[in-house]
Amino acid sequence: MGTRTFAIIKPDAVKNGHTGKIYDRILQSDFKILGAKLMRMTKAQAEGFYAVHKERPFYEELTTFMSSGQSMVLALEKENAVAAWRETIGATNPADADVGSIRKDFATSLGENAVHGSDSDENAIIEISFFFSDAELIANR
Ligand code: CMP
Repeated sequence: MGTRTFAIIKPDAVKNGHTGKIYDRILQSDFKILGAKLMRMTKAQAEGFYAVHKERPFYEELTTFMSSGQSMVLALEKENAVAAWRETIGATNPADADVGSIRKDFATSLGENAVHGSDSDENAIIEISFFFSDAELIANR
């Protein structure tokens, strides 16, 4: 199992003032922050990042939303990072998310679901490198 995953604190969560609380959940869940950037994605960046969903009916809505305001992109490190972060954030649809998960506490809808998490080790590497150069990631040893 890999030790890295990629996370986004999405525009709804930043706009609603939840950035600090979600950042704190990350630290409390024992992730190391290898990189963190507050940014506003361009539409082209959002389209590239979510290219895997290009054929889905929600692609336009998703990429418009993700480029609608500031978000925070993060490279996280922990043992079994992908699964650990997915457990911390809860189900994609906040209506299905477990009590105590980030999406249960901060997400408003399926489309505006507060955070993103990689779904596999392979995608974690691809997604981290979409937003961070190797030089930007903090070496922990
Ligand atoms: P995320 O984990 O960032 O990965 C893809 C995103 O697409 C997902 O979170 C949701 O926010 C969004 N998404 C998935 N299904 C739908 C849907 N039916 N309508 C709108 N957005 C969706």
